[in-house]
Amino acid sequence: MIIGGSASQKLAAKVAKELDDYLCPVETRKFPDGERYIRFKEEIEKEVVVVQSTGYPQDENLMELFFILKNLKSLGAEEIKVVIPYFGYGRQEKRFKDGEAVSASITADFIEYAGATELFSVNLHENKVTDFFNIPVTEISAMPLIAEYIGENLDDPVIIAPDKGALPHAKEISDILNCPCDHMEKTRISPDTVKTRVSSLDVERHQAVIIDDIISTGGTIVNASNILKEHGARSVTVTCVHPVLVEDALLKIFATGVEDVLATDTLSSDVSALSVAPLIANVLK
Ligand code: R5P
Repeated sequence: MIIGGSASQKLAAKVAKELDDYLCPVETRKFPDGERYIRFKEEIEKEVVVVQSTGYPQDENLMELFFILKNLKSLGAEEIKVVIPYFGYGRQEKRFKDGEAVSASITADFIEYAGATELFSVNLHENKVTDFFNIPVTEISAMPLIAEYIGENLDDPVIIAPDKGALPHAKEISDILNCPCDHMEKTRISPDTVKTRVSSLDVERHQAVIIDDIISTGGTIVNASNILKEHGARSVTVTCVHPVLVEDALLKIFATGVEDVLATDTLSSDVSALSVAPLIANVLK
């Protein structure tokens, strides 16, 4: 039995279809004062899979997830596999300054406390998040899916990581496609300002493909795209796993002259064209 949270309705339906499993109808709505209401409209089975991304509005989506999990448990579910395709609050995995809350760790505690017996997520921003859980955690990589798109649609690609953190992703794709990869150096000045530089970059005559795990304000990609154009790339295509896309991020990116922006459907957006449903279904099998 698959339960879709309101943040991942279509993805939950796709996973159910891939697995040929039953998609439980769930009534989820808000009371006039903003509080959330959840009701399962069918009898709950012993083994269930919950699919709910916890992107914006993070607090609401998390609270809904806690209601779903606790409710499942009290209605008799024994094995509750939770798929959080995009793991919100996954970026603060340590205390950078005295007194800060380690939000990734606290979020993990609550998910486990609410009743999750196993967790699945797609490309966690910080691998350390897996250490915060005592239940089994499986991290799914969307890179094979993105590599498949690039292989089918671009010729002579070079895979570019816009910062060092994205380099393992670029390498994973370039290994699959047997093509070159490179990376840039990024320094974050503030939450919405980054500086990017490169020592050398061999992209001339290549179709450059930027890969990042998250696009948030778009600042990282805008810098990377401008640099690739300056270095003579034939074209620039942008790919990412989680399209967080704050405000006009997409417009800013397209304004640099990129060919296209492709993301997965861990979060719904205008560019969520690559579905992780088959990858999720495959690990659940
Ligand atoms: C940072 O380490 C991440 O991998 C992304 O590069 C970052 O979240 C992108 O943020 P923005 O789109 O705001 O530059």
